Amino acid sequence: MKKILALVLALLMVVSLFAACGGKTTEDNSLQAVLDKGELVIGTSPDFPPFENLNDDGSITGIEIDILTKICEKLGVTLKIEQMDFDSVLPGVQAGKFDLAVSGITATEERKQNALFTDPYCLANIAIVVKEGSEIKGKADLQDKTVSLQTGTTAELYCNANGFANNAFQANADAQIALTTGKVDAWIIDDLTAKDMVAAYNEENADKLVILDEAMTTEPYGFATKLGNDALITEINTILADLLADGTIKGLFEQYGADFVDPATAA
Ligand code: ARG
Repeated sequence: MKKILALVLALLMVVSLFAACGGKTTEDNSLQAVLDKGELVIGTSPDFPPFENLNDDGSITGIEIDILTKICEKLGVTLKIEQMDFDSVLPGVQAGKFDLAVSGITATEERKQNALFTDPYCLANIAIVVKEGSEIKGKADLQDKTVSLQTGTTAELYCNANGFANNAFQANADAQIALTTGKVDAWIIDDLTAKDMVAAYNEENADKLVILDEAMTTEPYGFATKLGNDALITEINTILADLLADGTIKGLFEQYGADFVDPATAA
């Protein structure tokens, strides 16, 4: 009798362990779940000023953080930020590890196969950054050169597709250092971030960096959730449309000294 009781108890423990650990493979990221738990969890790589930047005091600020704060106010939930490398942001949201991917993410057709994107809220260019005096004046001059870029970005996709030799770095800052230390000939990075990071570098260094006039591509930025999470995206799209229509988003770009390009101007 005692043996049977022990066996039953052991079985019960195994069952409850399973329930605790393996109950769900992914989180419930639905609009209802967000409202129920009272928070929206975003995944971001905060090395991308002026959109999201990790400050010395450990806080994360930027245009996208402000947009998300406004979205959360409208939803009546608090914003929770999870920090990671850029190449973990989209895989993370696809696996349902957090509710929304927020990282200056370009909504490409390929990415839309694996994640559900909001409508774009701005347009940005991929820029070429070189050292002052460089012989590189545009895309055409990159043929036999090596460039640096961030792993998992559209800059990487573009350079690989066009046969530009490249060194990929997990952290954006390291891609910049590769250029300033002469390990590569150019650094490929989204234009508004380039503007911020180049200005910060030029302020402190005698040798200067220059952003070339010719951009590589123009791309729309949006936020993403996992496939099938339509109600959350529909709700965020409604809020984004209001924030675009009433000039809030344009105002935020101005506040950060960034040029705003309305996605409605896309061809
Ligand atoms: N817009 C580019 C892309 O989607 C770069 C984004 C990099 N974002 C970041 N937070 N480091 O691939």
